[in-house]
Amino acid sequence: MMVCLGNICRSPMAEGILRDKVKELGVDWHVDSCGTGSYHIGEAPDLRAQEMMLIRDHNINDLRAQQLSPEMLEEYDLIYCMDESNYEDVVAMATPAQRSKVSLILDMLQDEEHSEVPDPYFNNKFYLVYNLLDKATDEIIKKYT
Ligand code: 4NP
Repeated sequence: MMVCLGNICRSPMAEGILRDKVKELGVDWHVDSCGTGSYHIGEAPDLRAQEMMLIRDHNINDLRAQQLSPEMLEEYDLIYCMDESNYEDVVAMATPAQRSKVSLILDMLQDEEHSEVPDPYFNNKFYLVYNLLDKATDEIIKKYT
């Protein structure tokens, strides 16, 4: 489960990249994404995120924003947060047992410059977000396959 704030930029991109890699590998994983906030529930990904993804041959126009729920924390084995603020919000909702499943997605990388996936909603850095998530999802696959 990929988690950001609005579930219209970073986490749907993470979901789209990972689900395509998983499909290509033929592994049986359920990949999903959500937001900690409720502002964009039901919306398709931001058009800038859709465009960035299409440039790299991933189509995410079927995704619709949903908000994190306690049931999701129980259902998913691995919960990857895009930034520290998302992490704090997820941990606050999680039971002590569920907390061990929650991490920052960029902990998968040894990138000294980036420990968080920056929010591209206001700064437009969708290319940077894509590259960070592409590398991090490769590491997730390496670790768990
Ligand atoms: P996301 O980006 O958390 O990567 O989906 C954002 C989307 C919307 C807002 C903030 C961040 N917003 O303030 O509406």
